[in-house]
Amino acid sequence: MAESSTGPRVLLLNGPNLNLLGSRDPRQYGSVTLAEIERHVQTLGAELGAAVECAQSNHEGELVEHVHRARELDGVVYNPGAFAHYSIALRDAIEAVDVPCVEVHISNVYAREAFRHTSVTAPVCQGYIAGCGPVGYDLGLRAVLARIEERRAL
Ligand code: DQA
Repeated sequence: MAESSTGPRVLLLNGPNLNLLGSRDPRQYGSVTLAEIERHVQTLGAELGAAVECAQSNHEGELVEHVHRARELDGVVYNPGAFAHYSIALRDAIEAVDVPCVEVHISNVYAREAFRHTSVTAPVCQGYIAGCGPVGYDLGLRAVLARIEERRAL
């Protein structure tokens, strides 16, 4: 575990098209920008004694590499965007790094098209949150910190 005297280190990772939050389909995703979400989660992390590093990519391979880098950290909160529905590479990366990971979807994917009802990545995550809006990232951070605590207690 990478935890230092400053507390757990968590990666907040966002996948394709999430850089457009704020203007992208506000009925599904609200009007908050990704920068605002990142600042908010970092502030919450500081309150909870955790350091939150943020990254976003529209490219599958780059996301895989971010997940690999998370081996140096304690946990991951991530929204894989559409890759959740079909990226075996991302699933394998999460499984390989053995770092607690909580998957977040802003929208209620189960109230949308059938192709969004499946996540190939969720089965290798420690938690899954969908349909809570941007607050899902806060819940994801709290959940991953709880998972990190549980690991430490083992
Ligand atoms: C999403 C849901 C996905 O189906 C979609 O492709 C996204 C965003 C969400 O946060 O609700 O890009 O992950």
